[in-house]
Order: sequence, then C-alpha cells, then structure tokens
Amino acid sequence: MPKVTVVDFMGDVQKEFEVEKGTKLLKALIDNEVDIVHTCGGKAKCTTCRVTIHKGVPTKETQRQREFFEKLIESGRIEFDHPAVFLSCQVVVENDMTVSASETFNKVIHDSIGKDTTDEVTPEPVWVDHEVPDWWGIK
Ligand code: FES
Repeated sequence: MPKVTVVDFMGDVQKEFEVEKGTKLLKALIDNEVDIVHTCGGKAKCTTCRVTIHKGVPTKETQRQREFFEKLIESGRIEFDHPAVFLSCQVVVENDMTVSASETFNKVIHDSIGKDTTDEVTPEPVWVDHEVPDWWGIK
C-alpha cells in the first residue's frame, strides 16, 4: 500500500500512514486526523484543502482543478502557479507521497474545519496530464 508522509513547513515529519491505492488524498488526511481545512467538503470549490506535494507528485490532475487554478492565477493568485500545488480533494494516492497542508485550522480565520467529504473525487473527474518540470527535482 502507498505511504503518505505529512510534513510541516520545516520538513519535519508529522505523520506517516499507509492507504489503499486509489484513496482520495483529502479523505486519507481526514481519516488520519491531519490538521487540514476542507471548507467545501471536497467539491473543488474553496482551495482550503490545497497541499504541496514534495515527493510523489501525480502525473495526472483533474480538469476541474486545472480550470479552477487557471482562473485563480488570472486573478493574481500566483501561489497556484506551481506544479506541486494540488487540491487534496482532487488527488488519488497511487504511490508514496510526501505532502504538507497549506491551510490548517485556526478559529480566528475559520468557522469550522469543513464539511464532511465523500470517498470519491467530485465532481466526476476528467483526468488530464500534469507535467512536473525537472527543476522540481523530487518527483
Ligand atoms: S477545494 Fe474545497 S475541500 Fe478541496
């Protein structure tokens, strides 16, 4: 089974766990009590579940994520213009990966950690190729 390693911004390991291949990453993080906000419940509408994937970057992304990120980048949110930034609700775990959550729960900013999520990627995913440039270097 693939192993998910969760690190903080210093790269220190917070958690490690194995998941069934094909598990939605957000679901795996929630089920393993990782502190990650998921306001819209995994419907690719809010961006709070975004992660940086340090190792094991997927070679596919959902069409929904790509179009959402294109709009965000056009509006000046350049943090989404990075090959290792994904919405965890739009990722399935196929191989070992190392990730860090971008938005952890903070009562001042968030009303709640977010709605429950389903096992499936929603909306129904259309997978498109995702290129990881060599400069990222830690595929
Ligand atoms: S985009 Fe809202 S939980 Fe993933």
